[in-house]
Amino acid sequence: MFFFLIFLLSCGIIRQNNKDEVGPYKLEIPEGFPAMKSTEGNELTQERIDLGRMLFYDPILSRDSTISCASCHNQALAFADDRAITPGVEGRLAKRNAPTLANVGYNPTLLFDGHLETLEMQILVPIGEHAEMAFNIIEISKLLQEDSTYVRMSYSAYNWKPDAFVITRAISAFERTLISGDSKFDQQVYQGKNVMNKAEKRGMDLFFNELNCVECHSGFNFTNYTTTNNGLYEVYADSGRQRVTRLESDRALFKVPTLRNIALTAPYMHDGSIATLEEVIAHYKSGGVIHKNKSDKLTPFTLSESQTADLIKFLNCLTDKEFLKNKKFRNPFED
Ligand code: HEC
Ligand code: HEC
Repeated sequence: MFFFLIFLLSCGIIRQNNKDEVGPYKLEIPEGFPAMKSTEGNELTQERIDLGRMLFYDPILSRDSTISCASCHNQALAFADDRAITPGVEGRLAKRNAPTLANVGYNPTLLFDGHLETLEMQILVPIGEHAEMAFNIIEISKLLQEDSTYVRMSYSAYNWKPDAFVITRAISAFERTLISGDSKFDQQVYQGKNVMNKAEKRGMDLFFNELNCVECHSGFNFTNYTTTNNGLYEVYADSGRQRVTRLESDRALFKVPTLRNIALTAPYMHDGSIATLEEVIAHYKSGGVIHKNKSDKLTPFTLSESQTADLIKFLNCLTDKEFLKNKKFRNPFED
């Protein structure tokens, strides 16, 4: 089934080459952020983004019309969710914690095992996943083609009927606009405003200079995008990247997540097993448990109570309040 869908999608790439009349959309790139790599075959336009936003919020994408992308990726929570595992159709539970979609257009790989490279491809995962939307894109296309609003929007965005080609591209176009770069940290460091207090600055110094965090959580998006093991368990229920490569050396490796908006995206880790930032820091202090693939960058350290509090205050500075209430990202059905 999956390969059939890939075939459908690649047919679309050929179809795309008739240059449409729609105008380009210019992403607002925050100070300190690189340009987002261009989206060949799916250049951003307002029409595409508008269609993608509607689809993102529409439960029509799930078998029983109960679950939308936003059920698990909630704007108020930086497009993550506050449950360890979010139920899909009929309350079914998958195995992983819903990650934030902030700055997802920059991610060179997607999913905790880092095995997909484009947002367009990723969309087929939740749609088909038994414990998420449990549907299929052919059925969704049929429903959308019966809806005059979607048909109109689809033609104005891609000059084509709403099908797998359009659905995957439009949602991806919307996702690429989900840029978060106006936190207190950004204002302080990239925009040159003095907004962080002394405790927050002490926490920032710990994060960047004293501790090992930037060995992995580096760069403008606080991740080096590698997959690694951070020593959560001696025996992992989730095989991580090994699921994709089958290599023993990839067992229990997970993609380093961004720390942007981290105060809002609890619980933490691929399985949502750590409830608070205090506990995350306690984990790193211990250096993690023994695992044969654990990164050698994780070594135990000591941190006083007040230093721990400072570090958490710094992590709280990664919250971008504008992002959480930006009207452009809101549910269009509630406008
Ligand atoms: C039932 C909850 C649920 C629904 C519905 C859902 N997701 Fe997710 N999403 C997740 C989980 C859990 C993961 C992590 C999965 C993994 O790593 O294997 C994820 C991962 C992602 C990622 C990868 C992010 C990254 O940085 O690696 C993207 C992008 C994404 N989802 C977009 C969507 C879109 C678009 C939709 C709607 C078509 C959607 N999701 C529907 C729970 C959900
Ligand atoms: C060796 C690389 C590495 C180092 C060093 C590291 N991390 Fe992580 N971090 C990871 C990985 C990998 C994950 C995800 C693990 C998982 O999902 O099971 C993670 C997850 C997290 C999370 C949870 C993110 C989420 O959205 O669930 C937080 C918070 C975090 N790290 C903070 C820190 C802090 C603070 C430091 C420094 C004290 C640090 N990390 C050092 C690799 C690292």
